[in-house]
Amino acid sequence: MSSITRRTALAAGASLLAPAWAQTASPTPAKPLVIKFSHVVAPETPKGKGALRFKELMEIRSGGRVKVEVYPNSTLFKDKDEIAALKRGEVQLLAPSLSKLRPLGVKEFEVFDLPFLFKNRNAFTDTAQSYGRTLFTKLEPSGVRGLAFWDNGFLLMSANRRLRDVDDFKGLKMRIQPSAVAEAEMHALGAEPRVMNFSELFTGLQAGSVDGTEGTASNFLTQRLPEVQKHLTLSNHGYLAYALLVNRAFHDSLPADLRAVFDSAVADATQYANAIANTENAWALGKIKTSARVALYAPLAAELDEWRRALMGVHQDVATRVGAAALQAAYQAAGFVPPR
Ligand code: LMR
Repeated sequence: MSSITRRTALAAGASLLAPAWAQTASPTPAKPLVIKFSHVVAPETPKGKGALRFKELMEIRSGGRVKVEVYPNSTLFKDKDEIAALKRGEVQLLAPSLSKLRPLGVKEFEVFDLPFLFKNRNAFTDTAQSYGRTLFTKLEPSGVRGLAFWDNGFLLMSANRRLRDVDDFKGLKMRIQPSAVAEAEMHALGAEPRVMNFSELFTGLQAGSVDGTEGTASNFLTQRLPEVQKHLTLSNHGYLAYALLVNRAFHDSLPADLRAVFDSAVADATQYANAIANTENAWALGKIKTSARVALYAPLAAELDEWRRALMGVHQDVATRVGAAALQAAYQAAGFVPPR
């Protein structure tokens, strides 16, 4: 067992054993049902490992009636195309970040991108499980079903210059996800936002079409960004998490016994992915630190207050799109009190 596998196995402690009812599943048909699960990150990330765990559980528990094909690293679809492919049924499962759900037309997901909304991981989880769950029902008319929230972690900010004061952002072209909030944030910091597919991030930074980015330590490391970014600020200014989505018609079409296997594999893979996210990011940050290629900067409270002041206008901006009631509901779920 590799050290990474051992580490995450210990962190999650989940069992692969089939529940008793799954052992009575019908005999294996000649041709297994194929589930395609496409995502954009590396296999050695919380989401990548969660996807592989789902595959493992689904294949074992279905007794070979289902084959799960996991396509990591945008090998099947990139950010821009994956949601359309899910709606068309060309893939059955995706786990896009909550920042990429705009094509599904449920604007209220935008609040998950708000700067400094979550004081810790639990605040994110509480918000996802209450406020977030209510948004899943709004996805149904688009032919997509929300199954679960998968965690990654807090966003850090990188560039080839140290990002300490708000002034440090001036004029930088910053890669962002396709999120109206991230766009407004970069403008508020004096940077130029550039939406770019995740798969193009490394080359974009290498070629200088963007100067910096925001992301988690696990993504930073596995996308080899230490080769193209000299500074990383441990700002924890935002949060990266995912919605596990299934094509609704596909989910509805599963025979009852397979649907029960599917739902149990989703539940256990979710538990696993969320249990390892913290450890994976802490481990990745340690690796980035020991590589000594990137200068890490932990901002002082007063410096982060300056970022916060610059970014609070973005919260009001979101209220104009999602409505004050949705913003308040998210604040309440997150335990967030806006500064006066
Ligand atoms: C990004 O585009 O930065 C992230 O959404 C990638 C991911 O899926 O973690």
